[in-house]
Amino acid sequence: MNSDIKEILFTEEMIREMSQKMGQQISYDYKDCDSILLVGLLKGSVPFLAELMKHITVPVTINFIKVSSYVGSESKVLQMKQDLDEDVEGRHILIVEDILDTGRTLKTVKELLVHRGAASVKVATMLDKVEGRVIPFEAEYVGFECPNAFVVGYGLDYNERYRELPYVGVLKEEVYM
Ligand code: PRP
Repeated sequence: MNSDIKEILFTEEMIREMSQKMGQQISYDYKDCDSILLVGLLKGSVPFLAELMKHITVPVTINFIKVSSYVGSESKVLQMKQDLDEDVEGRHILIVEDILDTGRTLKTVKELLVHRGAASVKVATMLDKVEGRVIPFEAEYVGFECPNAFVVGYGLDYNERYRELPYVGVLKEEVYM
């Protein structure tokens, strides 16, 4: 285990098993669709998207969006850093995320894709930090409920570090305090 990690919450094996179950459910739910467009939110979603897609039996294509957020004087402002390079009109989209926290990112991106004419837009998230929610938002597919702790690994970062860890763990306080 990385020495900056206090505790492992979700091991690689747990994430693989969860992804398999979620993939089966998605495959069943979308069985009548020709294809699903998986939209990953960069950068954190990459490892989970790569695992999840292996367990979906309906044909998928993948694409990515990057939004960044900064805290303005009164609220968090989201900015599009990298947009999709394809038209999504009439597509069945599944947004794939590493973590759902305040709900701002996913709500904004979902509304954007609906506005662009997608046939459907749903969300699959590896982790749901329910206590972090600032605006009401629910994902259709949730891997694990996540405690209100500073978690890193499996795509999740602190200052761009720890994304490569093959598990989700709690960062030691002395690393970020
Ligand atoms: C993180 C995470 C989600 C978002 C969740 O991304 O990957 O996209 O924040 O937060 P919210 O529910 O409060 O909006 P971040 O902006 O840190 O980018 P990253 O994926 O590149 O780490």
